[in-house]
Amino acid sequence: MRKYSDSELKAFGLIPGRIPKHIAIVMDGNGRWATAKGLPRGAGHRAGVNALRDIIRFTSDIGAEALTIYAFSTENRKRPKDEIGILCGLLIEYFNREIDELHANGVRIKSIGDLSWFPTAVQETVRAAEVKTANNPGLKLNIALNYGGRAELVRAMRLSFRETGEPDEDTISKYLYTADSGDVDLLIRTGGDERVSNFLLWQIAYAELYFTDVKWPDFTREELIRALQDFAGRERRFGGLKSDGAK
Ligand code: IPE
Ligand code: IPE
Ligand code: MG
Repeated sequence: MRKYSDSELKAFGLIPGRIPKHIAIVMDGNGRWATAKGLPRGAGHRAGVNALRDIIRFTSDIGAEALTIYAFSTENRKRPKDEIGILCGLLIEYFNREIDELHANGVRIKSIGDLSWFPTAVQETVRAAEVKTANNPGLKLNIALNYGGRAELVRAMRLSFRETGEPDEDTISKYLYTADSGDVDLLIRTGGDERVSNFLLWQIAYAELYFTDVKWPDFTREELIRALQDFAGRERRFGGLKSDGAK
């Protein structure tokens, strides 16, 4: 739910009307953040979880409709067992700590990906958060957990085929995990790598891409504002011509 008025948005250097409806973030760089400080990788994940709090808050307050965050990819299952264990523990801790505030702020939580792979305690915590917030009217927060863009597309195509022998773009879109959040307007990746890593392949068809070297634990609202300002200056043509009527 939008909290800021137009003049408050302007005070942040933002342009009302040029706020992306759907923001997606590849929260990368936790491990390197920790290593650079001589800390174990788990400390980076913990710092990353802490960074998330204000980003969700701010995204909601500026009136974006959806925020989709990459927390754990299908490929991340290749990580050492102890790192996966730390991530699972942090997930449970995160939901237990944040759920009341998220709920109070009207955030609707949805996990995307195959949750059934996780230990039961993770599944139960995430499902409880989804149920509690299911009817909330505010920010749609999609958390990608054991998510892969290709797996999502295979699933959507199978379901579409089951419905109709001849699926089209609309039927496939309908069966994406993020169906009610629509296409991504702005995709942010922190951590310095410029790749998509199997995230939201369908939904980013016309997204504006923003890459920053800042590692996720250091990604503050000031960094998000930078990304939003950059987005506001982009000319989105969607394959058409300049919107100012250039002939
Ligand atoms: C992103 O940080 C979080 C997850 C993938 C779970 P990384 O753990 O990939 O951190 P780097 O890329 O190794 O620095
Ligand atoms: C992408 O980061 C996945 C998440 C942030 C959850 P990775 O660190 O897994 O991606 P690669 O391996 O650098 O492509
Ligand atoms: Mg990484």
